[in-house]
Amino acid sequence: MKMNKLSNFIVILFIIFCCNIASASGHKHKRPVKKGILLVAFGSSIPEAQVSFENIDKQVKAAFPDIPVRWAYTSSMIRHKLAKQGKHLDSPEVALAKMMDEKFTHVAVQSLHTIPGEEFHDLRRNAHFFGNMADGFDRILVGTPLLATDEDIGRVVSAMIKHIPEERNKKDAVLLMGHGTPHPSNAFYAALMYHFQQKDPNIFVGTVEGFPEIDDIKAMLLKKKIKKAYLMPFMSVAGDHARNDMAGEEEDSWKSVLTAAGIECVPILKGTAEYDEIVAIWVDHLKTVMSHF
Ligand code: CO
Repeated sequence: MKMNKLSNFIVILFIIFCCNIASASGHKHKRPVKKGILLVAFGSSIPEAQVSFENIDKQVKAAFPDIPVRWAYTSSMIRHKLAKQGKHLDSPEVALAKMMDEKFTHVAVQSLHTIPGEEFHDLRRNAHFFGNMADGFDRILVGTPLLATDEDIGRVVSAMIKHIPEERNKKDAVLLMGHGTPHPSNAFYAALMYHFQQKDPNIFVGTVEGFPEIDDIKAMLLKKKIKKAYLMPFMSVAGDHARNDMAGEEEDSWKSVLTAAGIECVPILKGTAEYDEIVAIWVDHLKTVMSHF
């Protein structure tokens, strides 16, 4: 009688055990947790610009010393250019596919873009598919770019003001060069200029490929009878746009356009990601994502 009860008990235990194995192998949530970070920048092929990415890499690894960090570039043009030099950078999709292969379960994708434009929205859209695939990630979240909230704008304004060269006189202009985009988030640049000018009326923000353009800014500088302008990139890297469109010798560069209008120009070739206070904003956005895992 006692033996019978015991054997029944063993049979029941065996059935429970088998059910568990079946659900473990068929269900992705039973995998061991493996967290990872994917940093996604537009990219740059200029060797001097790498200092920006190195600074971000350093600060992210300091904040998350135990989490593997991967990189991807959204610009296929830059990736192809680098590939010809033997440097292989992945697109976000390829990088995520590799992380899926390596059995990551939780992935924080951090956009290193400046505004939530097309590149950011495409990234977020594609990243989320990786959470829906068979054997995809249990959780994948995308951190917002540099400028996403009013608080970000306030922090960016303070950080950039801190890095204006000390020798600049208040009557000299400081002109930041943003990238600009046909996407509606281009409005961030004019909003940013408004916030800068609340603190310092001679700080201006223009864009290479959006609004305000250099001619709009030139008109503002001339109206204020400004004689000298410090030109600073408002892009994570001091890459091709900063070196050529901002500080280059061609006659349509910002430096040439303003010099021809009688405004002395002092270009500063530093990307925003060379400033720790700016990188800290991206890192904080990444911390917000990681806090959900
Ligand atoms: Co461009």
